[in-house]
Amino acid sequence: MNISIRQIHPVFVGEVSGLDVARPLSPEEVAAVEAGMDRYAVLVFPDQKITDDQQMVFSRNFGAIEDARGGNITKPEDKRLQAGMNDVSNLGRDGQPLERDSRQRLFNLGNMLWHSDSSFRAIPAKYSLLSARVVNPAGGNTEFADMRAAYDALDADTKAQIEDLVCEHSLMYSRGSLGMLDFTEQERAMFRPVRQRLVRRHPVTGRKSLYLSSHAGGIVGLPMPEARILLRDLTEHATQPRFVYAHAWRQWDLVIWDNRQVMHRGRRYDQRQSRDMRRTTIAGDAPTVAQVSTVA
Ligand SMILES: [Fe+2]
Repeated sequence: MNISIRQIHPVFVGEVSGLDVARPLSPEEVAAVEAGMDRYAVLVFPDQKITDDQQMVFSRNFGAIEDARGGNITKPEDKRLQAGMNDVSNLGRDGQPLERDSRQRLFNLGNMLWHSDSSFRAIPAKYSLLSARVVNPAGGNTEFADMRAAYDALDADTKAQIEDLVCEHSLMYSRGSLGMLDFTEQERAMFRPVRQRLVRRHPVTGRKSLYLSSHAGGIVGLPMPEARILLRDLTEHATQPRFVYAHAWRQWDLVIWDNRQVMHRGRRYDQRQSRDMRRTTIAGDAPTVAQVSTVA
């Protein structure tokens, strides 16, 4: 085994060398990547020229691939990629950039808000793995914020105040904050809010982190404006430059992040240009808090 990891940001993020993700991994190599994820929360693997099938095989080393249903508004007949692959491009089935007024494109702009993938699911995601197939000549960075460091830096009063708070997350909250409010009855049912703890503890390291996301739009027991002000305040704190790493993509970069420990956001780019990024998502194994049964 030849893996080495070099930390490339003062508080998190490692760059990995000595691993070809296109070939089968030994149990020791899988363990080394997991240990790197637990420590650095984001790992960058440069120069990994992979196919969708190779990406899915590599991803399954870390758990089951999440069922993507209920995570977007793209109709099955408009999907460009096979089941198991999340399309983070700006492309339609014809391989061309989506039209400016495409609802699919406008919905996907929500990825430019700080979030944690699948925080709108009762069992939220573990890792996301994003492979850069076609990158933009300018713009389009992905930024990551370390929610462990952000939690550690809170004052004791705030930590005590938020310790047991439970938030409500929905894709309707993140998209609603961009003025996208025209959801169908079917979408409203699909995007019904779920509950997540605001402070979570990592299952391996035991470190606490802030579980924030633009999908969070309410806090149980708090009036809505009070909840939203608190969430905004915490998000502002957690995304200060000292907690943020900006990744400038090169073609064939593969980046893995732990959604339990970081938030991320895409940055703007010229959407008339093609951008092709493909994500696999590793399912989490437990909810962060009990859900309430809702009346259908
Ligand atoms: Fe995302």
